[in-house]
Amino acid sequence: MREPFFAANWKMNKTPAQTREYARAFVPLADKFRERAAVVLCAPFIDLVPLHEELLLADSDTYIDIGAQDVFWETEGAFTGEISPVMLAGENVQYCIVGHSERRRLFGETDEMVAKKVFALIAADIVPIVCIGETLEENRMGKTRERVIAQIQASCTQLTEEQRGNIVIAYEPVWAIGTGMSDTPENANETIACIRDAAPGLSDTTIIYGGSMNPSNARALCAQPNIDGGLVGSSCVDPVNFAALIEHGLQGWDDAKP
Ligand code: 13P
Repeated sequence: MREPFFAANWKMNKTPAQTREYARAFVPLADKFRERAAVVLCAPFIDLVPLHEELLLADSDTYIDIGAQDVFWETEGAFTGEISPVMLAGENVQYCIVGHSERRRLFGETDEMVAKKVFALIAADIVPIVCIGETLEENRMGKTRERVIAQIQASCTQLTEEQRGNIVIAYEPVWAIGTGMSDTPENANETIACIRDAAPGLSDTTIIYGGSMNPSNARALCAQPNIDGGLVGSSCVDPVNFAALIEHGLQGWDDAKP
């Protein structure tokens, strides 16, 4: 189901103590987004429990959701260092990023592995945030659409049409991540339109943009008909900045999709 959706991807940042500090600062700022947007904080594994504790203490666990940044597809067993969907679900994790370009590039994650993770998360009632996006080289060769369509089709092969409508997809051009150089709203909108057409069920899926989204460009990006929000890296590390980004993004959403 499409809805305004803003997720912070902290990446490998913040200790448990810093997590508690962040939550205490962010909760009062996020109160005004209650009922207006889905707001998710995707934290490192070690921070998930302290994050939930702080949200509970502040009575804000109902309007701020918790996300993990990765998962393994098996339920339990001899997989040293891994975390399963069941373990995440037991710690109140509602969302999980899969297939982030940093995991694909640095840790060898393939479309097949992403598909297994997506399937396992859905079985544990966790919503996958499936990341797809082209590299700079693919973009320069005019292969953006071909690449993202192949990625999303491969990630969703095992899903029913209804399940496809209930995942979140993040279109993140790899060249735009952490570079300060976002895609133009029009380009991102057109690429996301192709993603919506790539498989039955995706027309109703929440699809967000990621890659140097910030408080200054969030409004224009979210005003595009196909863009439902953002997956945010650099601009989420500071809670004030992340709240400002959501505010501007919601203005964009209201401009175009009241
Ligand atoms: P930046 O917002 O820093 O470009 O990172 C985006 C990202 O990778 C979110 O997953």
